[in-house]
Amino acid sequence: MQLQQILFSQGFGTRRVCAGLVEQGFVTVQGQACTDPYADFDAREGLRFTVQGRDWAYHEKAYLVLHKPPGYECSQKPGAWPSVYTLLPGPLRQRPQRQGQPGVQAIGRLDQDTTGLLLLSDDGVFIHRMGSPKRHVPKVYEVTARHPVDEKMLRRLLEGVVLEDDPKPVRAAACEKTSENGLRLTLTEGKYHQVKRMVAAVGNRVEQLHRSRIGGLELPPGLRPGEWRWLESEELALLAP
Ligand code: URA
Repeated sequence: MQLQQILFSQGFGTRRVCAGLVEQGFVTVQGQACTDPYADFDAREGLRFTVQGRDWAYHEKAYLVLHKPPGYECSQKPGAWPSVYTLLPGPLRQRPQRQGQPGVQAIGRLDQDTTGLLLLSDDGVFIHRMGSPKRHVPKVYEVTARHPVDEKMLRRLLEGVVLEDDPKPVRAAACEKTSENGLRLTLTEGKYHQVKRMVAAVGNRVEQLHRSRIGGLELPPGLRPGEWRWLESEELALLAP
């Protein structure tokens, strides 16, 4: 693939801007300076290059994990709070849309005050697969509740509670008490404010909410709030429903 096309595909600007960056000597590939925008490279996953000193690795499709901090909205057009997309570097926000594919987007949403594991991708099939209610991908939430958690609450969450917008009860796939006011809840659907509404339906209230796992993927322990990274192929495999 031509170098200018590689840069363009990774979100470094229009083809013309990318050609200019190369011609002006701002680009190295695998540690070697290259000033020919049409130079051909094998665009394999992980091909390393720098643009104006920024180190980057080529990825045909983006699969990302973000540790969502509190105070961010999972929306491209946020209201009162900044968007989680502002936590991503410019190239990831500006990646051009491949044919029929979206730009990088969050898979499902977490509330502004919820923290934890958020996946993002620009692979439409993957986004659909992970978000589809039919796939029943389990999501694990750590809840800090206002009132102590008791056996009756756990039983009712497992048996199913009725939320106001649907007469069909929703139930937790798993539910355990983790401390006096702590609850670990596994859900396989993703209804609006589902954890908060389920906990309210059993007479308690969510004070803090953190998503710790999706499918077989835990929030990476070294990833601090606000940080993101590419997913490894083994991690992607853990998400396969
Ligand atoms: N359920 C909620 O109530 N909020 C979230 O952010 C995620 C699940």
